[in-house]
Parts: sequence; structure tokens; C-alpha cells
Amino acid sequence: MRIISSAVGMQKLARFWQRQGVRVGFVPTMGYLHAGHLSLVRAARKHVGKSGRVVVSIYVNPTQFGPAEDLASYPRDLKRDLQLCRAAGVDVVFTPGDAEMYLGKAEGNYSTYIIEEKLSQSMEGVTRPAHFRGVTTVVAKLFHLVLPAVAVFGQKDFQQAAIIRRMVADLNFPVKIIVAPTLREGDGLAMSSRNKYLDAEQRSQAVILFHALQAAKAAVARQSISAARLKSDLKEFFTAAPQARLDYVEFFDPETLEPVAEVKPGTQMALAVFVGKTRLIDNGRL
Ligand code: PAJ
Repeated sequence: MRIISSAVGMQKLARFWQRQGVRVGFVPTMGYLHAGHLSLVRAARKHVGKSGRVVVSIYVNPTQFGPAEDLASYPRDLKRDLQLCRAAGVDVVFTPGDAEMYLGKAEGNYSTYIIEEKLSQSMEGVTRPAHFRGVTTVVAKLFHLVLPAVAVFGQKDFQQAAIIRRMVADLNFPVKIIVAPTLREGDGLAMSSRNKYLDAEQRSQAVILFHALQAAKAAVARQSISAARLKSDLKEFFTAAPQARLDYVEFFDPETLEPVAEVKPGTQMALAVFVGKTRLIDNGRL
């Protein structure tokens, strides 16, 4: 397994592979890898086969964090990440630094961003206004450096995957986007690097996101319900976990992300919840 930290070095290798006709499967991450990330690596390998190459990037992208968010404290453990990647059969781990990605030779030398203007307006985009601008910008840059045939994203970040798909379609990136299912802990909590922030009590209450999804699913299986009614029922539901504070819950069409007035089986639900200071998200098809 090779570890490459230079952007130019990564792009040179990617161009070499491209000339050889070698297909690249790409998994962009911010590191602190867990089984969910590794399931994306397996999906990437499945798509490019033995003759292809699998690249994982590990980069905590500053432009997708808000000023009051957890950029400085975001968990990092490169040594462990590299071991996990090696064991998972990754060919190259790309670990650029901020200077490589944004600053060039001098501070302030970066001023070009990619902004998706429709799907990024709701949900995460409301609470985290510049977040998706940072995500689309860094993913576009990573695509230019890694030149993947296939890139794998997690359903866990449903809105992010939808926005990346839209960017790729709108800007004609020659890459196929694959969205892989959410891996969960035994009790149903979606795996996330941010779960590390939770203390024991918060960890036990965090499962309420999954329980809320299940409760909504059970409710709409019986009969369709107005989104307003279901939202107020779920607010009530959250009083059972005193450490959890609902940021938003939305019901929407999984293709267009347009909110629906009437929730029925097939509607997508997404929610964000503060558990203590930690903000967790989850989503599912009802
Ligand atoms: P990160 O949060 O590290 O996630 C990297 C990828 O892993 C994303 O596609 C995410 O949806 C997926 N993922 C996270 N938890 C998962 C789980 N429990 N099961 C399956 N997949 C899961 O998302 C980002 O990083 C960044 O925004 C990034 C795309 C790398 C751009 O900086």
C-alpha cells in the first residue's frame, strides 16, 4: 500500500493509471475510520475488481466546517487508519495537507468554490450554511487528483450523496457515483467518527435517532400521516432522552429532496440531533 501526501504526486499516479487503462475506485473520507468506511472500500473493490486500484483519501477538510464547529477537535488517528486500510486491501491512501489542498504557496491563495444551489438549501444546509460548499469543492478537487472511474459514498450522509450526484451530473465529471448502505452498531446507532465524543450516558441515549426512524416507519406502515403531525409526535418522542435535542426532522422525496406534506411508505426521513454537544445525523426510507 502506498501513502501519498502530495497532490501533484497523486495526480501523476492517477494519470499514469489512466494511460494504462487501470480503473480507480475512490472512497473519500475524513479519517478516524470505522466499519462503515471499510464497507465503502469493499464496494469500491467490487466495482473495479482485482485489476483496478482502490484509493482512500483521508483529509479533514476545513472548508466544510463552520466557525463554531469541531474542526480542531475532529478525531484523528492516522496510524490506525493506515493499518485498517492495509488490512482492507487499499492500494493507495491519499493524505494531503491544508497547504496542498487550499493555500498553495501563501495563505489566502485560494478563492474558487463549487456551489450546488438547490439540494443544499434544506436540512444540513440550514444548520450548516457553508458546509456543502466545502464538501462539493473538496470532492471536486479530489476527483481531479484521483481521477476515479467509480466513487463510493455512504447513505448515512444522504443529502451529501444526492448533492455529489447532482454536481457530477451538472459538471460532467466522468465518474460513476455509488451510494452504499449505512452500517450500524448492534443497537442500531449509525456508525460515525463523531460517536467517539459521546460519554456512556450519551451513547446510550444516542440510539434514539434510530428508534425515531423505526417509530416513524411503523407509524406510516399503518396509514399515511401528515408531516406536521409526525414531526410533532417525534418532538414528543425525544423528551424520553433528556440529553438529546432534535435539530431537525424532515420528510421528503428521496430523488428530489422536496419536502412532502403527507408521509407514506417510500418517503425518506432525515434527522439531526444534538446529544450533549455532539451533533449526530441519520436517515432512512420509511
Ligand atoms: P466522512 O464523515 O469521513 O465519511 C466518509 C464516507 O463514509 C461518506 O461517504 C459517509 O457517508 C460514509 N459513512 C459514514 N458513516 C457511515 C456508515 N455508518 N455506514 C456507511 N458509510 C458511512 O463524509 C465525509 O467524510 C466528507 O464530507 C467527505 C465526503 C470526505 C468530504 O470531505
